[in-house]
Parts: sequence; structure tokens; C-alpha cells
Amino acid sequence: MRKTIITAAAAILLLGALPVRADEGMWLPCLISQRIEDMQAKGFKLDAEDIYSINKASLKDAVVLFGSGCTGEVVSPDGLIFTNHHCGYSFIQRHSSVEHDYLKDGFWAMDRSEELPNPGLSVSFLERMEDVTDIVLKGGDVRANCRALEKEAAKDGAGLRARVEPLYHANRYYLFVYREYRDIRLVGAPPSSIGKFGGDTDNWMWPRHTGDFAIFRIYADKDGNPAEYSADNVPYTPKNYLKINRKGVQPGDFTMVFGFPGRTNEYAHSAEVGYTQDISDPMKIDIRTQRLAIQKKYMAQEQKIRIQYSAKSATIANGWKKWQGEVGGLRRNGILERKKAFETGFEKWAKGTAYEGLTDRIAAAYDALVPARFTRELYQETAAAFELGNFAGNVFNALKKDGTVNGDGFFKNWYEPVDRECFIVEMTEFGKRIPEGRAPAYYTAQMKKYGSAEAWADALFKKTLFTSNEKVNALTAKDTARVKKDPVYVFASEFSTWAAEITPEYAKRNAALAPLMKEYMKAQMEYQPEKDFYPDANLTLRVAYGKVQGYRPSDAIDYYPVSTLKGIIEKDNPEIFDYNIPQLLRDIYAEGGHDGQPVCFLATNHTTGGNSGSPVLDAGGNLVGINFDRVWEGTMSDLAFDPSFCRNISLDVRYLLFVIENIGKATRLIDEMTFVE
Ligand code: ARG
Ligand code: ASP
Repeated sequence: MRKTIITAAAAILLLGALPVRADEGMWLPCLISQRIEDMQAKGFKLDAEDIYSINKASLKDAVVLFGSGCTGEVVSPDGLIFTNHHCGYSFIQRHSSVEHDYLKDGFWAMDRSEELPNPGLSVSFLERMEDVTDIVLKGGDVRANCRALEKEAAKDGAGLRARVEPLYHANRYYLFVYREYRDIRLVGAPPSSIGKFGGDTDNWMWPRHTGDFAIFRIYADKDGNPAEYSADNVPYTPKNYLKINRKGVQPGDFTMVFGFPGRTNEYAHSAEVGYTQDISDPMKIDIRTQRLAIQKKYMAQEQKIRIQYSAKSATIANGWKKWQGEVGGLRRNGILERKKAFETGFEKWAKGTAYEGLTDRIAAAYDALVPARFTRELYQETAAAFELGNFAGNVFNALKKDGTVNGDGFFKNWYEPVDRECFIVEMTEFGKRIPEGRAPAYYTAQMKKYGSAEAWADALFKKTLFTSNEKVNALTAKDTARVKKDPVYVFASEFSTWAAEITPEYAKRNAALAPLMKEYMKAQMEYQPEKDFYPDANLTLRVAYGKVQGYRPSDAIDYYPVSTLKGIIEKDNPEIFDYNIPQLLRDIYAEGGHDGQPVCFLATNHTTGGNSGSPVLDAGGNLVGINFDRVWEGTMSDLAFDPSFCRNISLDVRYLLFVIENIGKATRLIDEMTFVE
């Protein structure tokens, strides 16, 4: 391996050409000057300063962290932002009822007074980032040094928020300073039959035809500063906004994704890969398969239940499907074996140095960590997923704090038979899978008392007060003692106490692994001095670049990288919920001339969860798409990027415009955007 790389590098030096590498990488914007030559060689027309600058408006000023885990982009001088439908989903849902079903029918504010506020939603701009490693490690307590830096950086300026984040497994530390806006209003969303077209059937897959976008607007006080919601707030004037390229992309065209990837583990030890593919993913997949089947059964019965569980079910299904792709991809590509072979090579190189035996030390640290880690994950997928149990805990806390409680929000989205049947699955699976000797005494006692999870559920649901909205709303501070004795509260508190007891063990094992991984990261960089290392994702702003390109999912099948409206019509089926498009779209198509209307495209950009909603830019930095997914065969990219299988899926911005114009008829929005020639 090492030899061929050196030879290739030598050949490049001789020829004087730029190294052409695969499109792996999530690069730090402030260091993009190190990649800019390669980007330009691949077609990019701008400079490093156009991407990230602290001296002038740059592309980074048009990118936002949307909510707690998505990306969005500013597309007008009046603070209009695009993100994904699935990123705005829970907000669209909160505004929805059977009478106004914005999830089903879509939502379009026809003027600014109709734009809907969303308490709890914020967006953050990155003001600047900076390497602060020397200050953090100057001596004294690392954590205290970080907090001091954050405090200093956020001290003047409304809405400033600063975070010091470790990068390269804590070999480096960076300070990130954000400005956070908190009055974000819903402007437009297509009906789910467009925004979630293909549903969980097409999720993580190609060919894809999902119009996965939603439109919001940032509001600020009259000076442009972040402010809580107020009717007096005005649309925010951004430092920068993206211009839109209506000509779109062709196979082979340069693309760049600018956003907030959440978490990757590219430099992991084989023990991490083995744990993921053989232990963790299979457990989560099995249990979720059963919970999803229960939700699906009831959702098919009634529209009300479908609305109640659509967001919850989508979230559960999303991880469930991704992990199946991940296990498949890890196995198909032999990632575990490749990692092991890498470790063998590494150890050969490390012989006689301080790194000798490091990979064995890491393997031992994993052996020590896995029981606690698995137990925590199992808890998350079972007891912690019991909706009524979580609710009971929240009610108790509210009573203690405020002396009163309102359960309406919970009951709006809760259906007893679903939660009850899921409880049975959760407790049955918990018993089957919990490592020997680790089950809480409470669990063992209840199962012994009732003989089965079914009988336990019967007793629990009969005796609890938490299934009644009325009874919950009538609670006062005087009732805390009674609440404490309620069997569902007891369940929640017993399990959470037990889970909290694992935390010190888990933290200790992780704390033992962390310095080894830090050392291993550093060692890998020395072992492969000719390789460019990008830091693992940690929800900080990154640049990925590549090109529009299809792939070969299996022997004798080639995927073309662009999908069109014709494909939507081919999938259209009024009988199947996921494929039942709006009649209006059928009518527009029937008029003719729309066969070639682009819908989605594939590219080789390295992305992960959190990149949803990220702008996809052309060679000139103009918006051509909105990233929303990856292909199933490539979801193992969080652990190992394979250039032949890993593709991101983007919505073509031209389909977004088509839907705004023809379905939403909200041309006022188009009028405030800028288009490049
Ligand atoms: N797979 C995409 C991502 O991880 C989209 C998820 C939302 N869509 C859905 N059908 N559940 O977030
Ligand atoms: N769909 C993901 C997201 O929500 C993106 C991905 O995992 O590729 O961020």
C-alpha cells in the first residue's frame, strides 16, 4: 500500500502534475488554502478567501447550522433560507392538525405576515474559527482553558456563542464563534407527497425523486441583532447570500458541499468496525424492525395516528435503514479485514518505537469498553424508548419545578396501543440481550412477578394515571408523592437510576480509550506522511468537494446520476402512500414538456448526517442543489469512504423552483432570489 502511494507521488513530482485524489474528505474552511489548488484543478473557479474569510463576506456567511443538527443556506437579501423538508419536519408537524394538515397539503405563506414562528428553533452563523491548541494545552486544566477561551470570545455581541472543539482526536483544538438567531419563521413547505416522496421506501436510495426542501426566514431586531420572537422583528439582512444557478449541473461537473457534518470515525481501529457491524447495528436493527411494524400497523388505520407517529416513525426508520446499509457496505468492502491489514502494516512500521503495540492496547481498551457501551445502547433502544415512561419523568420534574403541568402536547402525539405494544417488544428484547448479570434488579423482579412482558404491560397500563390527559392536567404540587408511587414513574426512575450507574464505568472506559486514540491518530499521520488528513466530523463547518457522478451498485447495473420528473410519474401510484403525488403535479405533467425536469442528482462529495440541507455549489460558488442524503451502498462512509460506492444525494435547485412556482404558486419568493446568467 505504502509503496504504491510513494511511487505515485514520485511520478506526480516528475510530471509536475497535481495529485488527483479520490473525493474523500471534510476539510476545515479556515485551512482550505491547503486544498484550493486541488479544487481548482478539478474545476473550482474561486479562491480560498471566497470560501472562508474573516475580512470580507465569503461563502461561509451564507451557511447556517439549522436547529441542532442540520444545515441551511441563505438565499436572499431578506434572510430567506433553504433547508430540507426532513429538517423542518417537526416544525411543520407542530403547526399541523387534522384541519390544517401542512404535512399532507404543504404550507405557503403568501405574504410575510403569514410566516409562522417556531419557538425553540434557531440558526447559527459561523463568525470565525481559530486554532487555539497552544492556549488550550499551555498547562493547567484543559477544560478550564477551553471555558475561559469561550467566555472571552462570546463576551461582547448579541447572540454570540463560542465553543472550543477537539479535532484529530484531541491532537488539536479549535475555537468556533457563532452568532445565533432565534426568531426563525416557516415560509414554505411542499406537501409530503413531494417533500417526502418515496418515504422510507426510497430513503437512503437511488434512483431518488424526493423534493426534500423547506423554506424558512431569519428575523432579527431592527438593528439586525439576534432577538427572541417578537411581532416587531424584521427580516434579517445577511452578510452574504447565495446566487442560484438555473442552468444546473451535468455529469462530471464540479460540486462542493458546505455544511455541518455531524460525526465520522475514519481513523478508527478494527475493534470499532467489528463492534459496529457485528454487535451494535444488528441489535438496533432487530429491535427497531419490531417497533416500526407496530407503528406502521396503527398508522395505516387512521389519519390521526398517522400524523401522531409520522415524525417519530421517520426518525426511527432513518437510523434503522442506514445501519442496514452500513453493515452491508462494511461487509461488501471488507472494511474489517482492510483495517486489520492496515494495523499489521502499522505495527511493522512501529516496531521499536513508542507506538509499538499501540493497536493491541486499543483492542484491549475496546474489550473493556464494550459491555458498558452495549448496555447503554440497549437501554436507549428499549426502556428509554418507552414514551409513557419518558413522559412520567417529565411530568414529575414539571410538578416539582412549577407545581403544575400540562400534558396536551404529549397526548396530541401519543396513541396508547402503539406505546403499549412497543413496551412489550422493548422489555422482551431487553431481557434477551442484556449481558449476563447486568440487568437491573427492578427488571428481574418485575419479570418474575408478572411472568411476561405482556402481563407486566397489562398491570402497568391498568394502574397508571399517566394514560389520562385529564388526570395529568389536574395534578398539583400536592400530588408529587402520589406520582412518585405511580408504576410508570417507578419504571422510568428505576431504569434511569440504573442507567446513570453505568455512566461512571462507561466514562472511565472511554477515558482510557481516548488518549490511545489520540496517540493512534498522531501515529497514523506519521506513518503516512504523504497523506492529507482531514479531522473527523464533529458538527463543525466543513467543505467537501467532488463531482456529479453515478455509480455501479452491483454487477452489470450502472446508475445515471440525474433523476427527472418522468421518474416521479413512473413511480406515481395513488394506492401506495409513499408514491401518491398531488393531483396538481399529475395535471402539470400531463400538459407536456416537463419530461426532462431535473429532480435529484448524485455526486461524490463526502457527507454525513448533519450535512442535510447543505448547499451544493457549482464551480463558481452558486447554488445548484441541496444535499439531503447518501446512497445505501455507501453509508459506511462514516467509517470508511469508498470512492466507487459513496455518493451524496442532492435535490436539484431547479426542482425546488419548479415546485415553488407550480405547486406553491409563491412567486414572491422567487422574486427575492438572485439568479446567475
Ligand atoms: N436519510 C436522510 C438523512 O439521514 C433523510 C431522512 C429523512 N427521510 C425519511 N424518509 N425518513 O437524514
Ligand atoms: N440525511 C442525512 C442528514 O439528515 C444526511 C446523510 O446522512 O447523508 O443529515
